Amino acid sequence: MDKEAIEKIKLAGKITAQVREYGASLIKKDALMVEVLDKVEEKIFELGAKPAFPAQISCNSIAAHYCPEENDPFKFSDELVSLDVGCHVDGYIGDTAVTVDLSGNYSELVNASKEALEAALNVVKVGATLGEIGNSIQEAIQKHDFAPVRNLSGHGLGHYKIHTKPSFPNFNNQDDTKIEKGMHFAIEPFASNGAGVVQDSGNATVFELREIKPVRNIITRQVLKHIASYEGLPFCTRWLTKKFGMKAKLALRELEQLDMLHSHPPLADKNKGMVSQAEHTILISDEGEVIVTTKS
Ligand code: CO
Repeated sequence: MDKEAIEKIKLAGKITAQVREYGASLIKKDALMVEVLDKVEEKIFELGAKPAFPAQISCNSIAAHYCPEENDPFKFSDELVSLDVGCHVDGYIGDTAVTVDLSGNYSELVNASKEALEAALNVVKVGATLGEIGNSIQEAIQKHDFAPVRNLSGHGLGHYKIHTKPSFPNFNNQDDTKIEKGMHFAIEPFASNGAGVVQDSGNATVFELREIKPVRNIITRQVLKHIASYEGLPFCTRWLTKKFGMKAKLALRELEQLDMLHSHPPLADKNKGMVSQAEHTILISDEGEVIVTTKS
C-alpha cells in the first residue's frame, strides 16, 4: 500500500471519529433525527471529507440501514440509538458506529457491543484468524447473556468500495483466513437481547448503483448521472429529493425496476430484540502495526 493511500486512510479515519463524536452529542430527546443526520453530513464536508455512505441512525430493534427521508418527522424520545457514519478522502474510507442509550435501560447492552469491539481489537494482529476475531466478539457479548448478531459482519474496505472481502464474523464461524499486512477493514459487533438474527424490515432508502443501463426518461437520466458521481458508493433517497425534488423518487423507482440498484432496506432483529452496535476501522500497516483509525 502506498504512502499516500495510508495517509488518506488515516485522515479519513480521524475525520470519521470526530464526526461520530459530534453526531453522538446531537442525539438527545426532542432532536429531529433527520436534522441530526444533515448536521453530521455537513460536518463531514466541513472537515474536508465526503460521506462514504449516507449517515444512518437505527433505533431499538433496528440494527442497521435506517435512513430517514427528507420530511421524516421523527424526534428522539427514549430510544436506543445507533449512529453509523463513514467518510472518505479521495475514496479512502473510514467507517465507525456508536450507540447512545436515551432510555437509561440498556447500558449493559451498549457495553456488550463496546467490549466486544475492544476484545476484537485486542485479538487483531497479523496471523490472527477471522474465526478467532469472531470468537472474541461472541464471548464478550455472551458474557452479558446477549446474542451477537450472526448475519451482520464487519467487512474489508477498498478504494471507493465500502464492502470488500473478507467478512469479519461476529461469532466464531471457524474461518481460518488470516489477517495480513496491508489489510484495511471495519469490525462491527452488534449485540441483541433478542434473536441475534436480523431480517429486512420496511422500505429501502439506501441504495448502491449496480449497473448502468440506458434509460429514456429525462429526469431519471439526470438522477442517474448524479448518482454516478458517488463513484459506486451508497446514497439515499433524501440526498436525491433534496437535489431534484420529489420526482427523484419516481426516478429511483424506475432505476429499481430496471434492476440497476442494490437496495439496502432497514434490518431489524427477528424477535424484536433491542440491538446495540460499535464499530471501528482498522489498517494493518506494511510493518504489521495495527492502526485503529477511528478510535476517539
Ligand atoms: Co461498516
